[in-house]
Amino acid sequence: MKIALIGYGKMGHAIEQVALKRGHDVVLRITSANRQDMAAAHLAQADVAIEFTAPAVARENVLACLSAGINVISGTTGWNENLGEAQAKAIEKQVAFLHASNFSIGVNIFFEVNKLLASLMNGQPEYNVSIDETHHTGKKDAPSGTAITLAGQIIQNLDGKEKWVLNDINEADSVPIFAHRVEDVPGTHTVTYSSAIDDISITHTAHSRDGFALGAVLAAEFIFGKHGVFSMKDVLKIKN
Ligand SMILES: NC(=O)c1ccc[n+]([C@@H]2O[C@H](COP(=O)([O-])OP(=O)(O)OC[C@H]3O[C@@H](n4cnc5c(N)ncnc54)[C@H](OP(=O)(O)O)[C@@H]3O)[C@@H](O)[C@H]2O)c1
Repeated sequence: MKIALIGYGKMGHAIEQVALKRGHDVVLRITSANRQDMAAAHLAQADVAIEFTAPAVARENVLACLSAGINVISGTTGWNENLGEAQAKAIEKQVAFLHASNFSIGVNIFFEVNKLLASLMNGQPEYNVSIDETHHTGKKDAPSGTAITLAGQIIQNLDGKEKWVLNDINEADSVPIFAHRVEDVPGTHTVTYSSAIDDISITHTAHSRDGFALGAVLAAEFIFGKHGVFSMKDVLKIKN
C-alpha cells in the first residue's frame, strides 16, 4: 500500500516505522513547511492518506484528501464538530473515511468495558462518575478526544448524565473530565465511580505511541479498496 502521511510529527514518525515494517511505502510526507505538496496530483500517488496534524487544520487537510479521491484515516483529535462534513464528503466522492479518537487496540477494548460498566451503574446513585486523562505537555486540545469518547459512552449508557464538563465540579447531570498535562506521557485514561464506601476504577495506560501507530496502519489496511464511513469497531470486528 502507498501511504501519504499528512502530518509528520510524533505520530507521523511512529506510523512511518510501523508502515515500513508491514511492507508499505510512504510516498508523501506533509508538514506545515510543505503544505503546497498536498495538491491532488501528489496525493494521487497514494492509496491512503493518514492524517495526524492539529485540530485547527484537520478539517481542511482531510477534505483536501477526500476531494482528491483518496481514502483517509484521520487521527487528529479536537475537531469533532466537522466530522459529519468529512463523512458526507467521503460518501459523495465514493472513498473511505475512518476517524478514531484513539487507534490503540487496547483503548478500543477499554471503550467496550466503559460502556458495560456505565450500564451496570444504573440504579446506583451513591456513585459519582469522573474521568481523568493525562497527556504530554505538547498536546494542543483538552480534554483529549479519547476522554470525550469515554464521556459520550457514559452519557449514552448511564441514566441522568447529559453532558461532560472540563475540570469542573460534579453537577448531577454532567460527567466531569479532569485533564492533566505531564512531560512525556503518551496517554492515560481512568474512569472512576466513587462512593463513600468504595471506588471502582478502570484505567488504560499507553506505554508509547506504537499502539496508536499500529492501529492507524491496521485501519489503513482495512479501508484499502473500500468506500464508505468506518470505525475502529469495524477494523477490530467488535460486535454490538
Ligand atoms: N487518534 C489517535 O489514536 C491519536 C494518538 C495520538 C495523537 N493523536 C492526535 O494526533 C494529532 C497529532 O499528534 P502529534 O503528537 O503527532 O503532533 P505533532 O508532533 O505536533 O505533529 C503534528 C504534525 O502536523 C504538522 N502540521 C501542522 N500544521 C499542519 C498543516 N496545516 N498542514 C499539514 N501538516 C501540518 C506538523 O508540522 P510542523 O511541525 O511543520 O508544524 C507536524 O508534522 C493531535 O491532534 C493528537 O491529539 C491521536
